[in-house]
Amino acid sequence: MPTIKFIEHNGTEHVVEEDVGRSLMQAAVDHCVPGIVADCGGSCSCGTCHCYLDEAWLVHVPESQSDEQSLIEGLLDVRSGSRLSCQIKVTPELDGLVVRLPKSQF
Ligand code: FES
Repeated sequence: MPTIKFIEHNGTEHVVEEDVGRSLMQAAVDHCVPGIVADCGGSCSCGTCHCYLDEAWLVHVPESQSDEQSLIEGLLDVRSGSRLSCQIKVTPELDGLVVRLPKSQF
């Protein structure tokens, strides 16, 4: 099972294991990681699962689609690595992934 490290805006780390095929959002919710609200349940319509991926990891995830990009554009604290965690599936290649969480979701 791949291991994912979520880091809150204040530096608090949460290391979780999640099944391949689940989303990063589900990994956070399943393990009660604060900062991922996921109001819409993963249908790419709320933007409350915003997260940041480090540049080095972006090549290991599919590019964002237009609906995800549109939603991100309306969020606070957008950065170059901004993604919606509900749109990224856990894969074996993501073992060790670091996911940072925006202050605006706490
Ligand atoms: Fe709503 Fe990701 S959970 S957009």
